[in-house]
Amino acid sequence: MSKPWYVGYFKGKDWLKNIDYTQEEIKKVLEAAKDLKEKFHKGIPTPYLQGKTLFMLFYNRSLRTRNSFEAGMFQLGGHAHFLSPQDVYTPTLPEDMIPYRTEAISDVARVLSRYGNAIAIRIYGDAAKWFIGRGHKVISEFAKWATIPVLNMEDDVYHPFQALADIMAALEALGWPKDLSGKKFVVSYAYSGGLKPLAVPQSVTLIAAMFGAEVVVAHPPGFELMDDMMKKAKELADQYGGSITISHDMKEAFEGAAFVYPKAWSPRGFFPPYNKVVDKEGAKAYQNRFKNWIVTLGLLEEVGRPYYMHCGPADRGQEVTDEVLDTYEKSLYFEEAENRLHVQKAVMAMTMGEPEK
Ligand code: CP
Repeated sequence: MSKPWYVGYFKGKDWLKNIDYTQEEIKKVLEAAKDLKEKFHKGIPTPYLQGKTLFMLFYNRSLRTRNSFEAGMFQLGGHAHFLSPQDVYTPTLPEDMIPYRTEAISDVARVLSRYGNAIAIRIYGDAAKWFIGRGHKVISEFAKWATIPVLNMEDDVYHPFQALADIMAALEALGWPKDLSGKKFVVSYAYSGGLKPLAVPQSVTLIAAMFGAEVVVAHPPGFELMDDMMKKAKELADQYGGSITISHDMKEAFEGAAFVYPKAWSPRGFFPPYNKVVDKEGAKAYQNRFKNWIVTLGLLEEVGRPYYMHCGPADRGQEVTDEVLDTYEKSLYFEEAENRLHVQKAVMAMTMGEPEK
């Protein structure tokens, strides 16, 4: 069986964040994902990673990420191992090694590198002690020591595979234009009683900017994205012909949008390094002032019926009403979830595969 062009295209590379790659390179991933999606739907086998192993280390729970990576590896002819941190002595950063706290990431990364072909990690929130950026530091430490690709399954700054699935769903919805130039794309806060990381809104803002959209980031005061992320998004918008603006009014932001992506994240000012201590109760009390940031069918109709997007899991009755998820024809919720499978298979085939000789 001959292998398609994309197998081994990024051989040996890590996938920690999409901004490590250019728009052209991300388009290659989407082309590969499109091919894999078509083959999946037609039942055409894609055994491009036969005999290969992915280690999946989950410090947090998951529905979509775990199952799409695991199913994806199986569909590519390989195998995925699920590892919960307690099963591998909770890999630890160097600064946490004294007093002794289980096994160093540098050792875990090098041991797993002797057994398989990539390590995928998810870590944010409680698992990263709610010190924003610590989860990304843990994944970067794995990448520093591993001699096989490291894949970011979501940390507290980035969720690259979610953003790839989302941009694929947006482009598909429009019939695969070359980018999103001229399209208003709103990344908005939506209320939840839970505490959620910044990874999704940041990664989606960055990729929408990379695809030339007119991006609006909408949120109540106190829900600012990280300064570095906004700066990078502005650079990408300038480079790719789009724009970035901020709004503090959900309805005003939604007016005339092609896409709205309303989801919860937590106010950074209650967590280090923006605050001296982790103040979860303070963050929840502050969030509770914004229960009116909910997406309803009426709102979507009023602002011109944009495509509705959400990474899942959506908090029904808080972020969005049941009828939007269950009846709105322009919801991309399940398409985005499905695309997680295809973009991850694409990146795994590209980074873990052996190119045709
Ligand atoms: N969107 C996403 O990452 O979903 P899970 O938390 O279910 O993996």
